[in-house]
Amino acid sequence: MCGIIGYIGHRDIVSVLLAGLKRMEYRGYDSSGLAVLGSDGIDLKKRIGKIADLEEDLNGQKIPGWLGIGHTRWATHGVPSTLNAHPHKTRSGELALIHNGIIENYTAIRDDLSRKGHHFTTETDTETLLHLIQDYYRGCTLEEAVREALKHVKGTYGIAVISRTEPDKIVVARQGSPIVLGIGENENFVASDMAAFIEYTKDVIYLNEGETAVIYKDHFEHKTLNNHKINRKPERINLSVEQIEKSGYPHFMLKEIFEQDHTVEDAIRGRLREDEGTARLYGLGKYKDALTDAKRVIIVACGTSYHAGLIGEYMLEEFGGIPVEVEYASEFRYRNPIIEPGTIVFAISQSGETADTLAAMREAKHKGAVCLAICNVVGSTIAREADAGLYLYAGPEIGVASTKAFTSQITVLALITLYIARRKKMSILDGQKWVKEMKSLQRKIQTILKSDGYIKKIAEFFKDRPNFLYLGRGYNYPVAMEGALKLKEISYIHAEGYPAAEMKHGPIALIDKDMPVVFIAIKDGTYDKIMSNIEEVRARNGRVIAIATQGDEEIKSKAESVIYVPEVAYPLMPILTVIPLQLLAYHIASFRGAHIDQPRNLAKSVTVE
Ligand code: AGP
Repeated sequence: MCGIIGYIGHRDIVSVLLAGLKRMEYRGYDSSGLAVLGSDGIDLKKRIGKIADLEEDLNGQKIPGWLGIGHTRWATHGVPSTLNAHPHKTRSGELALIHNGIIENYTAIRDDLSRKGHHFTTETDTETLLHLIQDYYRGCTLEEAVREALKHVKGTYGIAVISRTEPDKIVVARQGSPIVLGIGENENFVASDMAAFIEYTKDVIYLNEGETAVIYKDHFEHKTLNNHKINRKPERINLSVEQIEKSGYPHFMLKEIFEQDHTVEDAIRGRLREDEGTARLYGLGKYKDALTDAKRVIIVACGTSYHAGLIGEYMLEEFGGIPVEVEYASEFRYRNPIIEPGTIVFAISQSGETADTLAAMREAKHKGAVCLAICNVVGSTIAREADAGLYLYAGPEIGVASTKAFTSQITVLALITLYIARRKKMSILDGQKWVKEMKSLQRKIQTILKSDGYIKKIAEFFKDRPNFLYLGRGYNYPVAMEGALKLKEISYIHAEGYPAAEMKHGPIALIDKDMPVVFIAIKDGTYDKIMSNIEEVRARNGRVIAIATQGDEEIKSKAESVIYVPEVAYPLMPILTVIPLQLLAYHIASFRGAHIDQPRNLAKSVTVE
């Protein structure tokens, strides 16, 4: 997902742009650039590589100016290169543009413009968009040209455009890629992520789909693409800079793993009714009955959020009495799914911007489903397009590998389950037990985090293994999947998660003395069966690492390494059992010197198909 920053005000433009781009590095990118508009026109600097490389090129050079735009690019059309990096500037030097998203009909537009005499120097869809705006920019204002051009565009965009002949404004527009305004004192900002300017102002306005804005130094105009004025007041965001910074940890991922005692508590905060043994979920709005009486629930998500959905399936079926299916969003959106009346669709997405999940939700909505979102980023597209939903309140998750979002997603799913169950068959006493168990999570997570040093030792021992297997049963089968995903995405070691019983249907052929097998062997209803699976692995010289219940002595004779977790009601166990797996993956990757917060080929939010 590309990063966009624009600034107009009294500060040093280059410093504000570079600082903003650095705050968005986590999103994954392959090139960066900036353009400053001053008395000498538009001065543009860009290059392939990291922002540090761009800074090296700038070499402390001051570029005097009144405003500027900056960009980090995650290549979609056109290979990563300095030429294809943004901003793009017209040959005349009159316009410069940065873009996040994909223009789907850019080849048709490009052919049409070529016939009109336009020459293109890159292979990007973004350059096509710039020329289209330029083609309309005759005898009208920049915002008029942008609006006219965008009416011919199919696809997604978050853009910022500047003009040498109108040096007091930045024009922005959004369709499918987030754009947020930062409203300051005699200065204004635009960005794709408020982290880029939060140190200067906490007053923000999110653009909705099909909206545009023109920002000046001392005011802004907010309109639809059809030029209808919008009066939306800025909202104050309680996001401090330190929440963004690593707070002393070597990586954002480790910081976020260690935040989970608080973030799980934040997901619960104000949502539990101890007296009535239930949950209070205002975010469900007028859909509480629709959810309680749902004939079917479909959960659409990707990656880690998909794994959280699998746990939600177990909870909602067992305690909510509702049939549930969990779908990969990317498959659901093209499958022509059957949506009958009484179907509730949950879209689970940390970023709230994952293209496949957004499209799947839109498809479900189109077919008549009530769509509820479980997101972390406030004001994100999925959150705003859903009929209602619940936020995780986990704060910004910067590490590409999702950790605190996962445990908060399960927590929110547990709150939803409790709410529904108490409106159905769950007694007040059982509800109050559930509440008590949820309130115990914070201290139990703190207990697990204390095992970090021991887990680091296990990681050092297994760091060079080429393959791993993760096995679990019941509620912990999705945790096995999640543990495998964590390891592979940050350490680049091949790892697979399976239901433990599946072993005999193939994976057991992989077991030998070089194969570490991580078992989630909790003292729940599946314990005896898991123990037999462990025996099967040991009989083939497999190396067993077990996540076990505190106090379980028997497991010690079966597993080479045992990581203990405290006990909690079994539907909530995944919130605890995943944490040692997050730490194991982190430390193995750290020993291997991997780029933990920005693993190769990955982006924090996959906003393209
Ligand atoms: C998880 O560690 C990965 N980074 C990835 O699978 C992620 O969960 C997936 O892309 C979904 O993202 P979302 O929750 O923001 O929709």
